[in-house]
Amino acid sequence: MTGDGTRAVRAGLPEPRANEPALPGPAFAAHYHLPGEVSGPYTYGREANPTWAALETAIAALEAPGGPGAEAGAGTEAEAEAVTFPSGMAAISAVFLSQLRPGDTAVLPSDGYQLLPALRERLEAFGIAVRTAPTAGDAQLAALEGARLLWIESPSNPGLDVCDIRRLADAAHRRGALVAVDNTLATPLGQRPLELGADFSVASGTKALTGHGDLLLGYVAARDPRLTAAVRNWRKVAGAIPGPMEAWLAHRSLATLQLRVDRQAATALALAEALSDRPEVTGLRHPGLPSDPAHDLALQQMRGGRFGCVVSFVLPDRAYAERFLTALRIVDEATSFGGVRSTAERRGRWGGDAVPEGFIRFSVGVEDTEDLIADVLAALDDAACS
Ligand SMILES: Cc1ncc(COP(=O)(O)O)c(C=O)c1O
Repeated sequence: MTGDGTRAVRAGLPEPRANEPALPGPAFAAHYHLPGEVSGPYTYGREANPTWAALETAIAALEAPGGPGAEAGAGTEAEAEAVTFPSGMAAISAVFLSQLRPGDTAVLPSDGYQLLPALRERLEAFGIAVRTAPTAGDAQLAALEGARLLWIESPSNPGLDVCDIRRLADAAHRRGALVAVDNTLATPLGQRPLELGADFSVASGTKALTGHGDLLLGYVAARDPRLTAAVRNWRKVAGAIPGPMEAWLAHRSLATLQLRVDRQAATALALAEALSDRPEVTGLRHPGLPSDPAHDLALQQMRGGRFGCVVSFVLPDRAYAERFLTALRIVDEATSFGGVRSTAERRGRWGGDAVPEGFIRFSVGVEDTEDLIADVLAALDDAACS
């Protein structure tokens, strides 16, 4: 089987044909020629689009490489299917709303992405019971009895805790529950939830997967065709379809995925090491840091030393954190993460996460490592002096 970089470059491309582009351009079509009887695959624009189809083939090959012909071919074959969405939240909602019925129970992380509580409210309004537990220490184990769906976010955003996906998935399956993992932070090159036993791998492609901070996208990948069929059907009914331009840009960006995630992970670790020497920095978290509480588990289930591009830490108070952010010169103050340009923000400004006022979520880009670390250390010096 080919390596991650080769797969990322070739995944989802059509067979080379004389005088055709390697990656065909976006297909803009609300409808397709459809004479006579209805026949697939392309009928109406809400149901299918060749640009999504190519991207979905590519994502499936990254989330679950293998399948018939994998050894002989270019390594872009997959043992799963992916369904793309216009945002990560559309993908997440599609799993919950296609799988759960009134009376079901879902188990969610209490420290996951900040919109999960809003989703919880919606689910409860539909008669679905929701239990929550923190990510660290596999705490969701204790909440599984009678559940229909376990939702895992590992590493979690923004706290960067990690749980044992295989252990939780085995325990959930023994109780008849489905398991979904939000794989946004790791990307499929850093973690393959389906291989670790999850039924769904779900992600916001807005972040590191596409990596340029210029589009929103989401996807759901699963091995069981009945699960992907239900998610695909939900997409059609909800009309939550990605734009062809976004899908094409995302596919184009996959070619550099390995380069970006490797560089970002290496710099994130170097930055975390530099921050660990600073007395004003507390609560430093990065799963790649050997001293991090999540490191051993991350090492066991994440791949290729790719522990993600996010480093989180706490500065003494809100004003200190704001001075630090203002003093950064090559880091944009912005939300989101995973982009080629480093960004940072005081997470408490949103009010959704249970974090201290001085909590910084830092997303490492692809700048030169030395430049980035120098900028961060200088900004810390500035924040201390002001
Ligand atoms: C872990 C995680 N999951 C899901 C989402 C939602 O993705 P989107 O913004 O593409 O809807 C985010 C967004 O920040 C996220 O961080």
